[in-house]
Amino acid sequence: MHQYCYPIIDAHLLGSAVTTVDRQAPVDAYEPMTGDRSVPAGRQTRSSAPSQRAAIRIPVSAGARTYPIVIEEGLTSRLADLLATHEIGPRLFAISNPLVWRLHGTAVKAAVPDVEPILIPDGERHKTLRTVSRIYEALLHAGADRSVGVLAVGGGVVGDTVGFAAATYLRGVNLVHLPTTLLAQVDSAVGGKVGVNHPLAKNLIGAFYPPVLVASDPLLLPTLPRRELRSGLYEVVKYGMIASHKLFVRLEAHLSEHFAHVPDVLVATIAQSCRIKARIVSADERESGPRRILNFGHTAGHALESLTSYRRFRHGEAVAYGMLVAAEIGKARGTLSEAEQERLVGLIRQMGPLPPIADLSAKRAIEVIRRDKKVVRGRLHFVLPEGIGSTTIVDDVGARELERAMRRAGMAR
Ligand SMILES: NC(=O)c1ccc[n+]([C@@H]2O[C@H](COP(=O)([O-])OP(=O)(O)OC[C@H]3O[C@@H](n4cnc5c(N)ncnc54)[C@H](O)[C@@H]3O)[C@@H](O)[C@H]2O)c1
Ligand SMILES: [Zn+2]
Repeated sequence: MHQYCYPIIDAHLLGSAVTTVDRQAPVDAYEPMTGDRSVPAGRQTRSSAPSQRAAIRIPVSAGARTYPIVIEEGLTSRLADLLATHEIGPRLFAISNPLVWRLHGTAVKAAVPDVEPILIPDGERHKTLRTVSRIYEALLHAGADRSVGVLAVGGGVVGDTVGFAAATYLRGVNLVHLPTTLLAQVDSAVGGKVGVNHPLAKNLIGAFYPPVLVASDPLLLPTLPRRELRSGLYEVVKYGMIASHKLFVRLEAHLSEHFAHVPDVLVATIAQSCRIKARIVSADERESGPRRILNFGHTAGHALESLTSYRRFRHGEAVAYGMLVAAEIGKARGTLSEAEQERLVGLIRQMGPLPPIADLSAKRAIEVIRRDKKVVRGRLHFVLPEGIGSTTIVDDVGARELERAMRRAGMAR
């Protein structure tokens, strides 16, 4: 397997000007982990001319503060104004990875010419304290004080890692997310959770650290491999299932326009997803109650990811299976009609292929779930569908019931 061995590239560490970062970073040497994750030829950032439509602003409350998610086609080109409005900077560090920076760094630099890039290695396995420590070093070498702003430019891995570094560097500097995957735009950049993995467990080290601003630009998405786009779309299906029949119906009706990157369609989907997540997290910032419904599909999903050492599935793909398992339980209990269950299956199948699960043991998945943090005092808190657009949390789903549902969804004994 290809080794990602990029050092953190920091213009200051290298004693060179910001513009030399592209030259210093061996971005052309990037090799995808699998064929499906390669960047399709010719899919570069499209013209980032400002759109004629007004930006959508969605407020998210985080404790005493409120921050906006701003969504607009071509928003990257207006970044300077947006940062000025929110009093970010004047010194701004853009922290990204070589792949994303190669694709979209030029657009960021065009919008904010003084931005100082720091590159961290790409990939979930670099979502670690070691990378965070390298970010601290780069910031320290650059003489970054508490007044600087940090712009996280990338998918969920960059957002989570950079967010954690921003939360802890000098006890917190201003953080702005510029999410570049659909999953990050609809999910990981929303809600203020930041953190890294520990060798013993995923996402174990973290904090709640709301950004000052999230800037979502669908024009950053056409470079995304189709599989990554799908991964984000499965989380959108989740929002439809838990909270919005209307969103689910829109996805059914306009699925192909999402894959064709029709900006209006993407803006509407991102906005609707963010509204749902914002409403839920605003009511429950620290995940004590209602926020748990966001875990719909994640019980079996996390088990699948863990059983395959986080290598086989993109996160959204595992969640897609998790939703199918939850729907089997809903159907067996009569909370979800057969027709609704079939619509969910139909939509997920229509979106494209999922990695196989027929070789994975449901029994072993149950063992993983027993150790899950969703098990409280020995009882599993399970998000059960009650229809498309409605869920409830129950704590009486037994191991055998879950195992049966997993097998019906395609897993082995
Ligand atoms: N904080 C939260 O609330 C939260 C919620 C959900 C997921 N997450 C975390 O998010 C991570 C997954 O995020 P992800 O799915 O965005 O994966 P990712 O960040 O690994 O991005 C996927 C791949 O796409 C590349 N990429 C990013 N933007 C691109 C673009 N515009 N064009 C081409 N390639 C691009 C990345 O470099 C990477 O190789 C996980 O670590 C997960 O734990 C966090
Ligand atoms: Zn998820």
